[in-house]
Amino acid sequence: MSTLAEPLVYLNGAMTPIADAKVSVLDRGFIFGDGIYEVIPIYQRRLFRAKHHMARLFRSLASISIPNPHSEAEWMALIDQVVAAHPADDQMVYLQVTRGVAKRAHAFPADSTPTVFIMTNPIPLPSMAVRAAGVACVSMEDKRWLRCEIKSISLLGNVLAAQNAVDNNAVESIQFRDGFLTEASSSNVWIVKDGVLLGPPKDNLILEGIRYGLIEELCAAHAIPMRVRRIGRDEVFAADEVLLTSATKEVLPVVSLDGKPIGNGTPGPIYAKLYEAYQAAKAAA
Ligand code: PDD
Repeated sequence: MSTLAEPLVYLNGAMTPIADAKVSVLDRGFIFGDGIYEVIPIYQRRLFRAKHHMARLFRSLASISIPNPHSEAEWMALIDQVVAAHPADDQMVYLQVTRGVAKRAHAFPADSTPTVFIMTNPIPLPSMAVRAAGVACVSMEDKRWLRCEIKSISLLGNVLAAQNAVDNNAVESIQFRDGFLTEASSSNVWIVKDGVLLGPPKDNLILEGIRYGLIEELCAAHAIPMRVRRIGRDEVFAADEVLLTSATKEVLPVVSLDGKPIGNGTPGPIYAKLYEAYQAAKAAA
C-alpha cells in the first residue's frame, strides 16, 4: 500500500509509488551489482550539467556493455517526468540501469532487458554553517578495484570508506593508493598549494566527477591556476587548502585531515572563489 504523499518513481516503463516499485531477486543488480548509476542535481526544477551527466551515463553503459535502452531525448523526458512529480524545486535525481533479470550465472546473459530505475529526492546540500566551519576528513588506503572510472553500482569499497568516515566523526575518507591521492568515498578531492589548484589525473583510479570538468572550467574563467598531476600523501597534509566536490557537496572545504589542520584550519580563498563561481554557474544554467 502506498500513501498519496509518496513521491513517484520510474521503473521499467511505469511511474509508481516507491513502495510499489519492485524488481526480481534475480535482477543482476541485486545478485552481482551488475549495473551503473548517475546522480544529477536539479536546481529550480532544471537539471544542472545535464549534457555532461548524459554523456557519462552513456559512457558507463558502453564500458560494461549494457545496451543503452533510451535515446538522450527519451532519458531527458523520463527524468523530467520524475522531477515534475516531486514537490521540491531543488532535487537530486538518482538513476540506475542494471543488466536486467536472468538465471544466476556470472557472464552476461544472452538476452536480458536492462532494468531502468529513476527516483528523486530533495538535494541535501551542506548548510552555510557547515560551509563556514569546513569539514573534517580522515585518510585511508584505497582498496577498491582498478576500474573506478566506471560509475558502477558495485560500491562496497566506497560504502566501507564512507562508514570509515562516520566511525571517525568525519565527513569523508580521503583515499590514497600507493602513496598518491585518489578520491574520497563519494567525492573528488583537490588541493591548493601556493595559489595553484591541483587535481589527480582522470584515469582508472578515480571517477571523473561532473564537477571535475566544471572546476576546470571555473578555474579557466576566473584565472585560478590549475594543474593535473599525481599528488603525494605528504602534499595533501601540507596543502594550503583541500576541497571536496560532488553533486551534493558542490564544492566543500576540508579543514582537518586525521585531526591535523589543513592550512590554517579554516576555509581558504580559493574555496571561497570556487564556491561563488559555482553558485553563479548554477544561477546562469
Ligand atoms: N558521487 N567520486 C566518486 C567515487 C563519487 O561517488 C562521486 C559522486 C564523485 C563526484 O562526481 P560528481 O561530481 O559527478 O557528483 C567522485 C555521487 C554524488 C553519489 O554516489 O551519490
